[in-house]
Amino acid sequence: MKIRYGIIGVGGHGKNRHLIPLIKLKNKVEIVAVADVKKERCEEVSSQFNIKCYLDYMEMVEKESLNAVSIVTPTGLHSRIAINVLNKGVNVLVDKPLGSNLEEVKEVVNTARNKGLKLMVGYWSRFSPALQYGKEIIHNGLLGEPYVAYGYLVRRRGIPGIPTFIDKTLSGGRGALLDIGCYLIDNLLSLLKFRKPISVMGKVYTKFGNVKEEVKFNWGSWDPENFSLDDYAVGLVKLEGDVSLILEVGWSANVSHVEEKSYVRILGDKGGIEGSGHEAIVDISFHSRTENFLTDTKPVLRKVDPYFEMINAFVDSILTDREPPITGEESVTLHSIIDGIYKSSTEDKEVKISL
Ligand SMILES: NC(=O)c1ccc[n+]([C@@H]2O[C@H](COP(=O)([O-])OP(=O)(O)OC[C@H]3O[C@@H](n4cnc5c(N)ncnc54)[C@H](O)[C@@H]3O)[C@@H](O)[C@H]2O)c1
Repeated sequence: MKIRYGIIGVGGHGKNRHLIPLIKLKNKVEIVAVADVKKERCEEVSSQFNIKCYLDYMEMVEKESLNAVSIVTPTGLHSRIAINVLNKGVNVLVDKPLGSNLEEVKEVVNTARNKGLKLMVGYWSRFSPALQYGKEIIHNGLLGEPYVAYGYLVRRRGIPGIPTFIDKTLSGGRGALLDIGCYLIDNLLSLLKFRKPISVMGKVYTKFGNVKEEVKFNWGSWDPENFSLDDYAVGLVKLEGDVSLILEVGWSANVSHVEEKSYVRILGDKGGIEGSGHEAIVDISFHSRTENFLTDTKPVLRKVDPYFEMINAFVDSILTDREPPITGEESVTLHSIIDGIYKSSTEDKEVKISL
């Protein structure tokens, strides 16, 4: 059986990171249609790939007997669209993040569970071989007991100044911490087997997006007078098992690196790992000791197309009726931390988390 597949939202990411990888899966998938509210964009993609176009995603879902869809609309619409589609009996791959806040995320997860449908979240960065090496080291005990995790994901000047990311309805009303912080937290939690958060202290800042002179240095264009999203965030999270997680995320900051840069470090009592890259970790090393020597180990990493791996994993989870490798439940843990940082920042105090 071939999966009848539709894509909701065919902007940059929907076309390049969902539709194009899906074409390589033509033995498993029939790409039936795309849906986008922007008529020209929908028709352009439709004619380029010879696939039907709908301006209304519900019409597509109702008419086309789909088995699966990718949801690649702006973040603020993810959860509502996912719930509507799940309620029609269709499996969903939702691009990151699964929702704007924890409440929305829980609602999607519960809907998928009640309907017995597959729900996967599009953290393609999970398919990075560097991250997988880190997981192997930690999960096989070579690091010993982890006790401190640190993550940094910062752009020098990278406020994405288009409505998808900065219009409050479309972005889900949140800025850098939700938009790119979700990758960083997902990477770190997957290394730490999604251990549960206990409490969070955090602060979010708006230091660049509301400054007129800054617009030209960043991406796109926006009205700084109406900008109130966070462009930098920090957090200190207590995780189960006495692990401290320290986070720094920014769309813009006065740092030396021009490109977006990530750095993750997990310290254990037997070893530590350090990884770097961007939204995905692409380089990693393991630091430990033998009886008489301190040691540094770097794996030989294979090259993969992580976007293809992500779509393929979702398709296979449907065909083999197995749990997708990136679950909605994991996003509940992730969003409890993100919501905790926003709440702690507003209330100026430590916030307890109970899941
Ligand atoms: N995983 C990644 O690395 C990555 C990178 C960029 C963006 N994204 C995520 O992908 C999503 C889209 O980002 P993008 O860069 O493609 O944005 P985009 O603005 O280029 O595309 C979004 C598309 O969704 C369409 N859309 C809006 N409302 C719709 C609706 N109700 N029904 C159907 N289509 C609708 C828009 O018309 C647009 O074409 C965001 O949630 C973003 O966080 C993920």
